Amino acid sequence: MLNFALVGCGRIAKRHSELLGLNQIQGARLVAVCDLSEVKAKTIAEQFSIPYYTDMHQMMQKEKIDVVVVLTESGNHAKNVIDLAQYRKHIVVEKPMALTLDDADEMIQACDRSGAKLFVVKQNRFNVPVVKLRQALDQGRFGKLILGTVRVRWCRPQDYYDQAPWRGTWAMDGGVLTNQASHHIDMLEWMVGDVESVFARSTTALAKIEAEDTAVVTLKFRNGALGVIEATTAVRPKDLEGSISILGEGGTVEVAGFAVNKMKTWNFVNSLPGDEDVMDRYSVNPPNVYGFGHQAYYEYVVDCISHNGPHLVDGLVGRKSLELINAIYESIETGKEVYLRFKPKYCKLGG
Ligand SMILES: NC(=O)c1ccc[n+]([C@@H]2O[C@H](COP(=O)([O-])OP(=O)(O)OC[C@H]3O[C@@H](n4cnc5c(N)ncnc54)[C@H](O)[C@@H]3O)[C@@H](O)[C@H]2O)c1
Repeated sequence: MLNFALVGCGRIAKRHSELLGLNQIQGARLVAVCDLSEVKAKTIAEQFSIPYYTDMHQMMQKEKIDVVVVLTESGNHAKNVIDLAQYRKHIVVEKPMALTLDDADEMIQACDRSGAKLFVVKQNRFNVPVVKLRQALDQGRFGKLILGTVRVRWCRPQDYYDQAPWRGTWAMDGGVLTNQASHHIDMLEWMVGDVESVFARSTTALAKIEAEDTAVVTLKFRNGALGVIEATTAVRPKDLEGSISILGEGGTVEVAGFAVNKMKTWNFVNSLPGDEDVMDRYSVNPPNVYGFGHQAYYEYVVDCISHNGPHLVDGLVGRKSLELINAIYESIETGKEVYLRFKPKYCKLGG
């Protein structure tokens, strides 16, 4: 049984604490929580009858913890993970792992030095229809890839941004690209392959925030495929779509719904037995845009630590999609196509 503890008891902590605290994950339990706000820490602690702390160092020193989960503001992830690495416990950090590539590198190095495994939360990779799509890619069913596109069309009204001062700021969050669409950007690169270059535009259409609430990006992949990212939190009056489409010479798959949860299209030139049921069997209906993926994500974390299972989403994987996001912002700032493996000069993220 692995003992988990949470650092940060804000909005997303509800999802993590319910999974770990209500025995939804075999081989895992929640043993302590911590937040700078005593009220927030106490509220979650009382729900699961566990101790709470307002200082993560005290929690790490007093409790028997195997895995610590960092659910603080995005701009604090690096500092918290580097601080926590001294305790030599495994670390799960919410997305995005950091805002700057230097921070991501230091986090990876700190965990490597301490022998801790670093996990970055990318729960959408574990969505049932997304796993099925990835399987088709691994089987080579698409042949030559032609086009990969993602859409995030969500509604985040001003009161969402006003909930906390860090939201939508360059120093602590970034905009729709770093926050909401970071999952979809990660998924697109994971599916289609390494990116050669990006060209992007953005605007802050409705939200009163520093960073963008709407962006469009065109991508060129190293394998010759092209890509498009469309991301906005300015959809009104409600969430519309979170989706991915992969088009290849051998077929087309679209996973749609509002949280990449519904198999919308499954068309292959050469069909296989079972193809006729895929649309029904691989669609799920989550209650919110976070989806069901956190459960499968934690099952993977436990498997990786307890049974030496594959480490699918480690710090290097998190760094890779952060590099892409930094390149997209660099293109927005310069108005130019940006070629990857680059050092950001004008990207404001984390600044
Ligand atoms: N995977 C997903 O789908 C998903 C969804 C929502 C949020 N997130 C990510 O989760 C992170 C948190 O988002 P949120 O909406 O829960 O934010 P939030 O503002 O609601 O909560 C953050 C909490 O961290 C606490 N905190 C900060 N520093 C701390 C410290 N040193 N010790 C203890 N507590 C500390 C704050 O007091 C606050 O309560 C962000 O990085 C966000 O991008 C991921």
